[in-house]
Amino acid sequence: MYKNQIYQKSLKNLNTFSIDVTAKKVIFIKTIKSLIEICKKCYYSHIPYIILGEGSNVLFLENYKGIVIINRIKGIQVKEKKNSWLLHVFSGEKWHDLVKYTLRMGFFGLENLALIPGCLGSAAIQNIGAYGLELKNICQYVDIISLKNSKIIRIEKNLCKFSYRNSLFKYKYTKGYAVIAVGIQILKNWNPIIFHSLLKNININKINPYTIYNSICRIRKKKLPNINKLGNAGSFFKNPIISKKHLKKHLSLYFNIPHYFQIDGSIKISAAWLIEKCNFNKIQIGDAAIYKKQKLVLINRKIAKPKEILILAKIIQKSILKKFKILLEPEIDFINSSGKVKLLKNISLKSL
Ligand code: FAD
Ligand code: EPU
Repeated sequence: MYKNQIYQKSLKNLNTFSIDVTAKKVIFIKTIKSLIEICKKCYYSHIPYIILGEGSNVLFLENYKGIVIINRIKGIQVKEKKNSWLLHVFSGEKWHDLVKYTLRMGFFGLENLALIPGCLGSAAIQNIGAYGLELKNICQYVDIISLKNSKIIRIEKNLCKFSYRNSLFKYKYTKGYAVIAVGIQILKNWNPIIFHSLLKNININKINPYTIYNSICRIRKKKLPNINKLGNAGSFFKNPIISKKHLKKHLSLYFNIPHYFQIDGSIKISAAWLIEKCNFNKIQIGDAAIYKKQKLVLINRKIAKPKEILILAKIIQKSILKKFKILLEPEIDFINSSGKVKLLKNISLKSL
């Protein structure tokens, strides 16, 4: 059915890196029924498909030979419980719109995650996090659908295997499944989360959900590039988690390295700081560069090719490995002509 439509839809405005690649077709879907219909058609005609929210955590490596399905399944259902509100949110809702909606409704607790681009589905897959809060802290369940038999499965929070920028949906329920809704629990007893060092300037006497929301929006606008002006996908790499032994052995000279102890005794360190210490100065590969206010963010200055971004990432990865004996792991998903590819830890340029 899609036989004659080859590589004709630009994806430039559908990925925040603003990479100018194409797909065979782009389809916006608003209902679960149409999602299933399209996936079934693709399956029977052997056409690859990929589901996207806002494309803010992906890097397309080349033209995509299949169908890009843009998830716009929307809706928020609210249930009041004795001590909390339970929000059943469909996966095509934009995350930041949900944060604003909850503030308007007087449901407080999501403000630390303000201004994170993307949709609810990907927020759960990625276990988004910022300023002391992660999705796993407020998620009650994730509903996924099998695109083969249309069965909806509810995965309760304890089984979602959420961890730092990771979940069961990132490595198990990938091909053949879609996230369709996320259950968010907001406690009526609001507790401000202000332990993050950048929130220390908030006046404790004036603290309320709006002051936190406004501070976080201010901080983010100051240090992260505006996706409408400069292509990027947020942090390109994850912050590495290393052992105490590694810290002592390879980083003992750097006593001021920002680090955070994890429950299991391991230590998360700032990848941005490591990159800064490599003094890349004004490194630029074609139109791919490092954002100067947040070194963990790689940017597309205008018309960067995926390969330019990958070469830059590879240079960064190699330098950090050499200097600190740490292999930075990409945070974003890579998509080649037929789907997601695992460049996982060691970025490979061979796939291009
Ligand atoms: P997409 O990029 O569209 O998709 C991501 C992956 O999920 C893809 O592999 C896609 O195929 C898959 N997918 C999407 N929807 C579905 C679905 N319904 N079912 C199955 N698979 C699906 N992240 C943070 O955690 N914290 C931050 O502070 C943060 N700040 C950012 C700032 C900027 C400026 C940018 C550009 C990004 C930032 N991010 C941050 C990363 C990004 O916003 C999140 O990872 C977000 O959750 C991605 O959402 P999306 O809808 O754009 O996902
Ligand atoms: N720093 C530098 N140089 C820089 C930037 C930061 O040295 O260029 C140091 C500073 O000491 C700073 C510390 O690193 O205090 C931490 O920086 P920041 O608060 O920006 O946090 P981050 O660790 O770089 C992480 C997330 C962000 C999230 C912020 C806030 C990852 C990979 N990134 O960044 O998430 O918004 O914390 O909580 O965990 C994303 O995932 O895309 C993302 C943007």
